[in-house]
Amino acid sequence: MIKVTAKAPANIAFIKYWGKKDEALKLPLAGSISMNLDNIYTVTTVEFNRRLTDDRIEMVGTKMKSGEKQKVSEFLDRIRNIAKITDKARIKTKNNFPKGTGVASSASGFAALAVAAAKAAGLNLPEKELSILARLGSGSACRSIPDGFVEWLEGNSSQTSYAKSIFPKTHWNILDITIIVSRKEKKISSSLGHTLALESPFMAARINDLDQKIKKIKQAIGDRDFTTFGNITESDALNMHAVMMTSNPALIYWQPKTVEIMKKIIDYRDMGLETYFTIDAGPNVHIICQEKSLLKVKSMILTIKGIKQIIISRPGKGAEVTENHLF
Ligand code: PMV
Repeated sequence: MIKVTAKAPANIAFIKYWGKKDEALKLPLAGSISMNLDNIYTVTTVEFNRRLTDDRIEMVGTKMKSGEKQKVSEFLDRIRNIAKITDKARIKTKNNFPKGTGVASSASGFAALAVAAAKAAGLNLPEKELSILARLGSGSACRSIPDGFVEWLEGNSSQTSYAKSIFPKTHWNILDITIIVSRKEKKISSSLGHTLALESPFMAARINDLDQKIKKIKQAIGDRDFTTFGNITESDALNMHAVMMTSNPALIYWQPKTVEIMKKIIDYRDMGLETYFTIDAGPNVHIICQEKSLLKVKSMILTIKGIKQIIISRPGKGAEVTENHLF
């Protein structure tokens, strides 16, 4: 069988996905909006081979836990079922960011795996089907399939919940600066977090408002209206964290450094440097800014002590097949 390699970006959500209405199918309680990050990605090579007795999965530079391997094998089973093959697979996967940076790898990981494994199994799936497949691996992975700025349509079934591009990556030259505050792995996975979210009394309030927010932010991205876009982005991140903090048990992902950076961003904004923050299920802060502000934002970051690393990304392409095989 053929060997196929795919490269897929991580993505940062401006309207976040938090809470599932179907656990097994990973159907979200609401839609979400994101941008692919061109500088944070996964490359994965897949080859099905009838001589193998088990799936052989290797992640460069990391020892994978047996639970993680199991998840990948179950994901491959879906593809084997569709392609009507039984061959086991050899898989090698590599992130361009070191393990333990606290940067999520499940979105880029499952998007790259979906594209490479589907093609290696002889399937020729359209983008929508690849997005659905990636979603079944990890919800937010469905947004790493299409190009540039992306909307995940909530849907009410597996076939209607997928992501599509709303603007190409060239539409707007905004930047994501990921500030790594901690390299520790989180104690509670986002997978469990989505379930705990349903316990929060603020969950319903956040969800009720989301359709409106999605409409407004799409308009703001379309108009390249950075102020409206940034305010909605920052407010949705805070809304999501309010839900997290009021789950049972409470999920407090922030660290003192996280709050220090948030406050600094607000202070500098008051002084005229327009940037906004967003934060996923961890302590790291994403600063969203315009290209023209990059130098000033870098100077601001230099005033913050104890940062582990920064990664600067621009809007990125979606997942794609490449020729650079890992084996
Ligand atoms: O796809 P998951 O289960 O890793 O969930 C991702 C959740 C957030 O990153 C917190 C929000 C989002 O929309 O990316």
